[in-house]
Amino acid sequence: MSIETIQGVPVSRGALSPEEQAALLTDLRAVAQAAPPFSPMTGWGKPMSVRITAAGRFCWFSDRRGYRYIEAHPETGQPFPPIPEAALRVWRTFETRADPDCCLINHYREGARMGLHQDRDEADFSFPVVSLSLGDPGLFRIGGTERKSPTRSFWLHSGDAMALTGETRLAFHGIDRIKFGETALLAGGGRLNLTLRRVAKAD
Ligand code: SIN
Ligand code: FE2
Repeated sequence: MSIETIQGVPVSRGALSPEEQAALLTDLRAVAQAAPPFSPMTGWGKPMSVRITAAGRFCWFSDRRGYRYIEAHPETGQPFPPIPEAALRVWRTFETRADPDCCLINHYREGARMGLHQDRDEADFSFPVVSLSLGDPGLFRIGGTERKSPTRSFWLHSGDAMALTGETRLAFHGIDRIKFGETALLAGGGRLNLTLRRVAKAD
């Protein structure tokens, strides 16, 4: 896997081949069976447009009480399934000190987006957040560590991986829109994004 720098962000275009993407999707379907995707509430009491679930020890969660990481599925009460091996392999191309303990799985259906936010609820910011895109392209926007910092954007395609690390680890970022229906990877169309991270301190 070769890593290039796009707009200051390390990106591995085509980190997973089409065959690897299809195999990972099979694993992700099993994750979604065991841990059904849900729409967390925003701080304003409106459901988010993405549906999320997770693999690994932790899942990000949000409701009127605020946001936090949880260790049991909000509906089933069960722990989340293990992180698929292909996703761990992608993480290890960016970080080798320890494996992630959280793989958030975001599903963007038609019209879904993700507003600018920081990922700052993890214990150790020396670990990256590694993202892997599957399915329809998503327009990724990234700025600086202040909400008002100038932003730039680029498209993430199926199989692309990237990392928020170093200077960009705490940068505001989001997804402006997706090109719904551009790929046939997901049966119902749309985009899946996996974000791998270390929530707890590594031993
Ligand atoms: C996120 O920042 O949580 C998701 C980013 C993406 O969907 O690429
Ligand atoms: Fe994020």
